[in-house]
Amino acid sequence: MLVSAKEMLTKAKEGKYAVAQININNLEWTKTVLQTAQELNSPVILGVSEGAAKYMCGFNTVVAMVNAMMDTLKITVPVALHLDHGTYEGAYAALEAGFSSIMFDGSHYPIDENIAKTKQLIADAGAKGVSIEAEVGAIGGEEDGVVGSGEVADPDECKMIADLGVTMLAAGIGNIHGKYPENWAGLNFDVLAKIQEKTGTMPLVLHGGTGIPADMIQKAISLGVSKINVNTELQLSFAAATRKYIEEGKDLAGKGFDPRKLLAPGCAAMRETVIEKMTLFGSVGKA
Ligand code: 13P
Repeated sequence: MLVSAKEMLTKAKEGKYAVAQININNLEWTKTVLQTAQELNSPVILGVSEGAAKYMCGFNTVVAMVNAMMDTLKITVPVALHLDHGTYEGAYAALEAGFSSIMFDGSHYPIDENIAKTKQLIADAGAKGVSIEAEVGAIGGEEDGVVGSGEVADPDECKMIADLGVTMLAAGIGNIHGKYPENWAGLNFDVLAKIQEKTGTMPLVLHGGTGIPADMIQKAISLGVSKINVNTELQLSFAAATRKYIEEGKDLAGKGFDPRKLLAPGCAAMRETVIEKMTLFGSVGKA
């Protein structure tokens, strides 16, 4: 059964580790992430962007697929199904479909409007026991065609949003989605420390987990980050393994073109990436 992200993140914050949000794109992604989390006895958050939900034939299909898979694969670790960077309308549609956690990305609204919309969602999601993530300071980079500029959040605005009663708070600290450029300045730990000081026990969320060096991840966790989002890195490992399979001509040998064979190396590579992230984030054995 899907659970809200509240309990797993409260435990993570107390235990000084982070739960991975791994974004899913299709059946192979979902199956690999669920099986690996179970294998590692780790809680996990399945992230679904509105674009990915559309690709998978809508929120209802995603909810049905995840629930059925959890049942068939006998997944017993805590799993939250989370809308990633939801619009206001998207948040309500995901809530209606049965998502157990919602991110409302109101970072592009003026702060007053972000607050009003976040408050309404907290009330409506809270009534269903669904966790809510809010964002302050747009995360840079490109995701689903939405390009942010990589802002650094204002700690006072973070406190304002945290005080509304969100479950977890994403704050921009120089992190961006996708690959980091050569000249990336790194995470702004001074600002993260201030945000943590002002928001206390609120689990903080680090987006753009792909390519952040291990020491920065560990420092971010020590400063209150309890949820780290990873998307691009699985896409890269899947693509590299699939490319290798084809370049070695394996799709041309025997029944190597069978999708169950063709996609297997990519899934094995994604499993390795999930193991690496969950180990680094410290969530292994914490289910
Ligand atoms: P990456 O694609 O950089 O890993 O970021 C994922 C993310 O933050 C999803 O919200």
